[in-house]
Amino acid sequence: MSEPAVCAEAVPVIADDPFSIPFLHDPYPYYARMRDAGPVVWLSQYHCYAVARHDEVQKVLGDWETFISAAGVGLANFHDEKPWRPPSIVLEADPPLHTRTRTALTRVLSPGNIRKLRQQFEREAEILVDRVVGMGRFDGIADFAEPYPVKVFPDAIGIPERGRENLLPYGSMVFNSFGPRNALTEAAFADADAVRGWIMENCARERLTPDGLGVQIYAAVESGELSEQEAPMLLRSFLSAGIDTTVDALGNTLWCLATFKDQWEKLRQDPALARNAFEEGLRYEGPAQVFFRTTARDTAIGGLPVGRNRKVAAFMGSANRDPRRWANPDAFDIERRAVGHMTLGTGIHGCVGQAVARLEGEALLTALARKVKSVELTAEPTRHYNNVLRSFERLPVQVTPA
Ligand code: HEM
Repeated sequence: MSEPAVCAEAVPVIADDPFSIPFLHDPYPYYARMRDAGPVVWLSQYHCYAVARHDEVQKVLGDWETFISAAGVGLANFHDEKPWRPPSIVLEADPPLHTRTRTALTRVLSPGNIRKLRQQFEREAEILVDRVVGMGRFDGIADFAEPYPVKVFPDAIGIPERGRENLLPYGSMVFNSFGPRNALTEAAFADADAVRGWIMENCARERLTPDGLGVQIYAAVESGELSEQEAPMLLRSFLSAGIDTTVDALGNTLWCLATFKDQWEKLRQDPALARNAFEEGLRYEGPAQVFFRTTARDTAIGGLPVGRNRKVAAFMGSANRDPRRWANPDAFDIERRAVGHMTLGTGIHGCVGQAVARLEGEALLTALARKVKSVELTAEPTRHYNNVLRSFERLPVQVTPA
């Protein structure tokens, strides 16, 4: 049963709507207000709690026994509302189910398997960078950030090429659905049946190539670790979590490099900084800005009481700019030790695909740093709005060859 829609008196109340366009456009002043208000705040528009300081975000995401995922990692509380799709058996699951499914995925994304992807990812990065250098002027999203993950990751999994245009709309549905049912969610679900149909069809065993990562998930069925129904659901998790996020990370980092010219110059002089530049991009303009948990029992955050069966929003994008944790948090610095940012989550649900994302970022930024002399914005970029992901719609840039 739901708790009454009020919080304890001591908890500061924030009336801002974190899913409104002004907030999504530039969340940073709002984040500062939330962080300064207290270790936990009450979002009066949504009747839920929120944490925005680094320390509390880390604690909430790190304590899966108090802050559970099985009631959904978006605003909706699955104890009270029916989810729009069968919940993910890894992201929206708690131990022991989560332990079993996560173990199978971790094996598929083992360091040995990631190493085998490197050569192909680097080759595709070179091809893409040669193409955009040839164009001179291009869209940093449609021509650069999107085509790369949409090619290399599904190739690595071994799903068919035909119909891959469904991947980004599917990600948009999944991530928008973590927010309220607002206009963004409505728009994302416009073609829901067709998109969902393609995803489920192409997660079937017989659609997969024999040498990809996808069939390795099915191998866990043979060993009795997963059921025949669970394998396609886990493959679905790869497709929903692994593409839009990486596209947005690449687009956001390209924007950072085109905007902070001294940092681009550093990268150009030393392409070995590519991996760290991507990491700093994840911190500075993280694609994943917020995930939710639900309290399994009465608890306290920063000494303030929080009742059971409450949604708690963990604003990772705010944790990444918290001056309590970072020196000069609003400076983009590719030599910073950015590890410890919350963009990939933390604790038992910390991103299982982070090595894939980092490999993509490193390969593409290394190729860019080697082959390009300058990157400049040629017009004001346009933002793409999603309830939980931060990204650009269009990023007009110009590059000159090295
Ligand atoms: C830069 C790109 C990426 C970002 C920003 C990102 C972000 C995240 C975050 C924040 C979580 C934790 C969510 C939570 O705690 O509730 C997560 C989990 C997850 N990610 Fe990623 N991710 C990225 C790339 C990928 C890739 C490439 C894959 C697939 C290979 C992937 C697959 C997953 C899966 C399956 C989970 C669920 C893990 C679990 O619940 O144990 N992600 N990701």
